[in-house]
Amino acid sequence: MSWKDKLIIALDVSDAKKALEIVDMLGDYAAVFKVGFELFVTAGPKVVEDIQKKGKRVFLDLKFHDIPNTVTKAALVAARLGVYMFNVHTSGGLEMMKICRDSVAELCVKENIKKPKIIGVTVLTSLNGDILKNEVGIHYSLKNHVKHLALLARQAGLDGVVASPQEITMIKQNCGKDFLVVAPGIRTSWTPPDDQHRTATPKEALKNGADYIVMGRGILKQEDPIKALELISLEILTA
Ligand code: C5P
Repeated sequence: MSWKDKLIIALDVSDAKKALEIVDMLGDYAAVFKVGFELFVTAGPKVVEDIQKKGKRVFLDLKFHDIPNTVTKAALVAARLGVYMFNVHTSGGLEMMKICRDSVAELCVKENIKKPKIIGVTVLTSLNGDILKNEVGIHYSLKNHVKHLALLARQAGLDGVVASPQEITMIKQNCGKDFLVVAPGIRTSWTPPDDQHRTATPKEALKNGADYIVMGRGILKQEDPIKALELISLEILTA
């Protein structure tokens, strides 16, 4: 398996045409393309369908966070759209995650749909321990809070979590090796952290056991995205 089978490219652009051009350009380099707020608010479900029509898998990164009924209804629409993966905020609580997961599983059996992977967002990679404590009001250590949320997601029957590449080992130890960890906050040694606080290089994240790494600016904001991917490959393959 190549590392590119674990790469999710974040299509953080504001028009469908540009997003589809990126999919055409980088289609052979990534396993999954991520549609987040910016693109979805501009282009809606059609862009998801258009990416899928090109034979590519979509991670719908809308981080659902609401009451159980509302999240579940949105999740059912995402499942019918045929996405490969979508996410909900674990801090929405156990009941929300569980009802969402069970309802999606039931729908998929009933309508013969391939069940999307449901991933719980733990603590955003743009937060650090100080922000979590002083602004969000969580007084556990950041690692303990991520562990708590990951265990909650597992208890709800989710397929895995989004967490920083620095927490992968701890999550795998506590939740089992088959519990997926999707890691954003990936930065090469030659790109700035931007708004991300808990980062690692692609090589470190993969070594830590990431099932998927999410990369946006580290590829798309580079002058030549394909060259950037080749440099990352070189770094990963160098002992
Ligand atoms: O440009 P960069 O590689 O930092 O992009 C990371 C992507 O991953 C963004 O689209 C962001 O919304 C997403 N993401 C994240 N942290 C999370 C969940 C998703 O950075 N916890």
